[in-house]
Amino acid sequence: MVEMFRLLLVVGRTFFACSSERRFPLIELIKDFPSIILSMISVRHDFSGRTVNEPKIILNHISKAFARKAETGLLRARRACRAVLKDVTLEVESGECVCVIGKNGSGKTTLMRILSTLVQPDNGQARICGFDVVKQGREVRRRIGVMLNAGDTGFQPRTSGLTNLEWYAALYSIPQKEAHRRIQRWLQDLQLADRGSDQIQSYSSGMRRRLALARALLSDPEILLLDEPTLGVDPWTMEQIHKQLRSYVMSGKTILCTTNSLTETRALARRVFRLENGVLSESAIKEELSC
Ligand SMILES: Nc1ncnc2c1ncn2[C@@H]1O[C@H](COP(=O)(O)OP(=O)(O)OP(=O)(O)O)[C@@H](O)[C@H]1O
Ligand SMILES: [Mg+2]
Repeated sequence: MVEMFRLLLVVGRTFFACSSERRFPLIELIKDFPSIILSMISVRHDFSGRTVNEPKIILNHISKAFARKAETGLLRARRACRAVLKDVTLEVESGECVCVIGKNGSGKTTLMRILSTLVQPDNGQARICGFDVVKQGREVRRRIGVMLNAGDTGFQPRTSGLTNLEWYAALYSIPQKEAHRRIQRWLQDLQLADRGSDQIQSYSSGMRRRLALARALLSDPEILLLDEPTLGVDPWTMEQIHKQLRSYVMSGKTILCTTNSLTETRALARRVFRLENGVLSESAIKEELSC
């Protein structure tokens, strides 16, 4: 707490000492203060009274239902609800990779969309790095790299993979030199170096998926949310991607990955959950993996 007040004091003094044009970044910093302070105090106490940082990803009794439009006539539609997530609870610690598997339509993408702040849950709470995904979306988005199921959306098809990544790097405010270094690195590591200058519309679907992964990794996020990242990727490249993701986790980052590939779960995660009937269960998948 004392450090927090010292920090406030320093920022206050600097603010009044600055010329007006230099105050702008300080105003930005001050705007973020409430959420920064919230994250600083988002610590839990264990039984011995020590403070422990909370898990990087927390899902607490999340539920989500979508309105279902059933066609009943030529122009009339009857509205009903379909509960997709009923009671999803999960904690992912820092430096951990957790996989979620589930049948088509079980709600994997919905779960990822909730964590990426694209969809709001009906009930329950989801937190990333101590920030609430509904109330503090901006802070959450700063800390996540996302690759959703249709991973190649958001790219300009007539421009090259390289230009697209440069564009996203500018959106993330990554300095130009650093952006160039990261783009070259990920194009190389994801076996796209020789196609970087080609138009995206000439890429195969597996190549687009790899480019989407490069985009998710570009901001060097603390948390990586991957929705079926290697769907349609050949087994040789898949092995390379798993190697990269393992080293990413080794460097202290956190990954939540949905997949329907048991090879992927074995390669990446120590904990695997199955999403079925809107609920996550760990024990069932262990039996499934051992057969
Ligand atoms: N915007 C929406 N409006 C209505 N229903 C939706 C919407 N988004 C998802 N759903 C429904 O929610 C359920 C879960 O969809 P979701 O895409 O999360 O499943 P999934 O596990 O990712 O499936 P897949 O393995 O095919 O990718 C499906 O029944 C789907 O029809
Ligand atoms: Mg999906």
